[in-house]
Amino acid sequence: MDRLSELCLDAVGALRDIFAEIGKGLIPAAEPLMDRVRALAHAARKDPASLLQLDPTREDDRYTFQHSVSVGLLALALAASLGHEGEQVAECGMAGFLHDIGKSRVDLHILDKPGKLSGDEVLEMQKHPEYGAEIVRGMAGVPASVVEAVLGHHVRFDRTGYPESARTLCLGIPCAVVAVADFYNATTTLRAYQRPMLRDEAVEALRRARGTVLDDTIVEGFLELTDGGV
Ligand SMILES: [Fe+2]
Repeated sequence: MDRLSELCLDAVGALRDIFAEIGKGLIPAAEPLMDRVRALAHAARKDPASLLQLDPTREDDRYTFQHSVSVGLLALALAASLGHEGEQVAECGMAGFLHDIGKSRVDLHILDKPGKLSGDEVLEMQKHPEYGAEIVRGMAGVPASVVEAVLGHHVRFDRTGYPESARTLCLGIPCAVVAVADFYNATTTLRAYQRPMLRDEAVEALRRARGTVLDDTIVEGFLELTDGGV
């Protein structure tokens, strides 16, 4: 196995430990993951696209975990390709890996529901950024920009979206980068209620989302990075 795959598996192992501990109601420290994400950020700055070839999850991992890993790797590659410095790239990666951690507090019958959610279920689902921010705020070693991204990743570029309380915050680069990576991965992944979009359709959806849902410059960077397909 090459060095990058090894680094990645190591980071995913640390993330798996974090998900397991949080599942038990514990609040683990983030440093073991943060150290590994810094190493991945270093590799991403040398060759961003190489991170898009990695496939470190297992078939029996839950959807939220697989999605979190994909968004973390996309966010690392995207931040590096945009030319950010190492620590900023690492913060984007951490934000991607942890953005949906609040879903651990949402009932499984809502998370796994194959059909349309009821009004109350949607409201509960929409609390996951706040649940997540509360969790990561308690984890030793999580940078403030990562807490902000966990809280703000569903606030749109035009300042609509949720939670309402985060719309007026000054949301930083990790938040904007994760929003793009999340949008792309969510639209191109098979879900119980949604067939995955083909790359061309997803690119079209990303283009339409520029300047309203997502930051234009970051979408442009993403399209350039993934030109050969993700
Ligand atoms: Fe989310």
